[in-house]
Amino acid sequence: MNVCVYPNGDLASAAAAMLIAGQVIDKPGSVLGLATGSTPLPIYRELIAMWHRGVIDFKNVTTYNLDEYVGLGPDHPCSYRRFMQENLFSHINVPQDSIHIPNGLAQDLDAECAAYDAAIAAAGQLDLQLLGLGANGHIGFNEPAAVFTTHSYCVKLSAQTLRDNRRFFEDGASMPSHALTMGIASIMQAKRIVLVATGGNKAAAVRAMVEGPVDPMAPASILQMHRHATILLDADAASLLSR
Ligand code: F6R
Repeated sequence: MNVCVYPNGDLASAAAAMLIAGQVIDKPGSVLGLATGSTPLPIYRELIAMWHRGVIDFKNVTTYNLDEYVGLGPDHPCSYRRFMQENLFSHINVPQDSIHIPNGLAQDLDAECAAYDAAIAAAGQLDLQLLGLGANGHIGFNEPAAVFTTHSYCVKLSAQTLRDNRRFFEDGASMPSHALTMGIASIMQAKRIVLVATGGNKAAAVRAMVEGPVDPMAPASILQMHRHATILLDADAASLLSR
């Protein structure tokens, strides 16, 4: 695990965008694992700017997102499909049929998850997975639990995640209690992982991830076992690290 601490979140985000751009330059047909939430927004803005400047080209890229809320369709304003369209995909040239996000409306959620993992495997696994970090230590929506999850599955969101993500749902919009998420094993099969965490509210989760024991109660701590994981932090997120 390579941990880089930057003075502020803008620099950590710029570094993440550079790593993703480098991946796409090195391998134009890269398979990228993408995330939603607040953390990736400046990263996506930077990638969009690089695409406009002609630095990178997404025409041969394939994407798989980490997660989607159960019950929200692609047009729902709070769905992750819609988030990705508005914040990245509609601004770059990744072909629509190369974009993959779990289908939160699937009739058979288990079959949807199995098919999602099978599609990633058929694509040769993820070349690079971008991750944010939940304040409770989750990656994707793999919440603190007694054991590490394996493959993609339907998860009941924790009370903290429901509280933390409430901000994305407009007044009165009901928030799903479940989501489909790539499992820990699915994420760990990515050839490279880039995790970005910014802000003091992530500091305890960062400490557990980097300095704690590998423990399913701190799901991101499994990244200590990944052979090519880069952790990009701002000073606030790194503030509780002692080493
Ligand atoms: C999003 C995801 C989550 C977020 C995490 C941090 O697709 O899988 O793990 O990365 O909840 O969210 P933000 O960036 O909003 O703090």
